[in-house]
Amino acid sequence: MTVKKCLFPVAGLGTRFLPVTKEIAKEMLPLVNRPIISYGVEEALASGCDDIVMITGRTKRSIENYFDRSFELEDILKRRGKLELYYKMIRISEMAEIMYIRQREPLGLGHAVLCGEPVCKDEYFGVILPDDVFVGEEPVLSQLVKVHERLGGSVVALEHVEDKDVSRYGIVAGEEFEPGIFRVNDMVEKPRLSDAPSRYAIMGRYVLSPEIFTFLHTQQAGAGGEIQLTDAIRELAKTEPVWGVVYHGRRFDCGTQKGWLSANIQLALDDDELREVVMNIIKNN
Ligand code: G1P
Repeated sequence: MTVKKCLFPVAGLGTRFLPVTKEIAKEMLPLVNRPIISYGVEEALASGCDDIVMITGRTKRSIENYFDRSFELEDILKRRGKLELYYKMIRISEMAEIMYIRQREPLGLGHAVLCGEPVCKDEYFGVILPDDVFVGEEPVLSQLVKVHERLGGSVVALEHVEDKDVSRYGIVAGEEFEPGIFRVNDMVEKPRLSDAPSRYAIMGRYVLSPEIFTFLHTQQAGAGGEIQLTDAIRELAKTEPVWGVVYHGRRFDCGTQKGWLSANIQLALDDDELREVVMNIIKNN
């Protein structure tokens, strides 16, 4: 019942960060001292996943290079006696087994997940949308894996959102099974407020049944003209249990400039040395 593989859709263009993302993958933007993608990979590993599957695109080579060995750099660091840094670089490349699959056309999140079918088709797998960065005691994917291990079926992370934010997310309908756990029976991608079945929004963590691929294969384009994962999970929920779990922790939407900046400030405040830097800037303003 454990979840060993985790899929990361990272082919998106990151237009909200242009012009930076003209040349840099948005997943490589720094969050204090590591790229955004690194937080997601660490979360997957801490949640028990061994295999990482990145669904990537032609502008995302920097992600592959980041997790690979860099012999030239390592050699220079070693010769200069910077051994701590040298070992740190090697550890990054040994963090995880990572596979890369190209999503050749930007057809949506559902299509990105479908690209992972060759490696994920035989077992339950995790999905992490790395733009959503969570800070808290227990990794959010691990919270979902625990529910999957206890109740079976697929699981999505939920957050109660304000009315004004409903149209940005996949919104679920369901019955509360236990405090904080819903049996999901419907979901709508980016609904108007008047069409939203609740105020519970899917945040970027999923444990999915391999049966999802059956539905993704036939899924027509939905909201925004894209093949939506939410639409396929709605179909899945008609045949298998799908649970919605209100996660514990704090989320930052690092796919937006405001969210990315907030995450940097929060993580700096959580760091003993950097906290003082942030506090001093605020004091002097
Ligand atoms: C995606 C999903 C949406 C989910 C959101 C969470 O949307 O399609 O259901 O609520 O992630 O961040 P996107 O942010 O890619 O538009």
